[in-house]
Amino acid sequence: MRKTLVAANWKMNGSREFAGEFFKALDLSGVSADVAFCPPFPYLSVVADLLKQVGHQGVALGAQNVSERDAGAFTGEVSAAMLKDFDARYVIVGHSERRSLYGESSELVARKYVAVRQAGLMPILCVGETLEEREASRALEVIGSQLNAVSELAGEDCWHGAVVAYEPVWAIGTGKTATPEQAQEVHEFIRKRLGAAGEQAQILYGGSVKSANAASLFAQPDIDGALVGGASLDAGEFAGICRAA
Ligand code: PGA
Repeated sequence: MRKTLVAANWKMNGSREFAGEFFKALDLSGVSADVAFCPPFPYLSVVADLLKQVGHQGVALGAQNVSERDAGAFTGEVSAAMLKDFDARYVIVGHSERRSLYGESSELVARKYVAVRQAGLMPILCVGETLEEREASRALEVIGSQLNAVSELAGEDCWHGAVVAYEPVWAIGTGKTATPEQAQEVHEFIRKRLGAAGEQAQILYGGSVKSANAASLFAQPDIDGALVGGASLDAGEFAGICRAA
């Protein structure tokens, strides 16, 4: 049995005060899934402290981005070792906002994936197609090439214990969710593509996940949890998603 994971991607939202209020309101009773919180960098240590009070065993800290380099003269960058220093367990790499707004290529994403694994942390590798690509029936081809970029650099062994998030770009922050069947088709494709490691890999769905649509997504055999943006900023809504997992 694969463990379910629900990860909160706060993106560039929140404040010290917000984090305090959020964790005061968060009630994860009855949640059996693992849960991760990926706040902006400055709040990692604040959230790390607040997580100690959550009272849920499987709760972990994550970051939203990382440098592909180890250390040195790279102004504004944060290394995987630094994230580990702050007790992060997960790092989101290749989010579509990084790919499209900050020009991150699949090759750069692959280098970040490797840097995170070498530091002993777990990347949450985001893949997904744009609306244009889906309408041209190219979704699986695009996702396949995003995955290939990682295994070409790191070898097929890189999928051992992996966490991959399928996030159709057209569903992120738009209120449009892939139907459970659309998501399942892609998740099954990803799992097969990961080869022998696929059976154990956690494949999350992301894109307008809410407590109201979470259960039908999680009911699909290859959906092992969610990467949640907007709805992760509301403690009640987010707990509802975790409870559905
Ligand atoms: P959303 O974002 O839940 O707001 O659609 C998901 C994500 O970008 O990870």
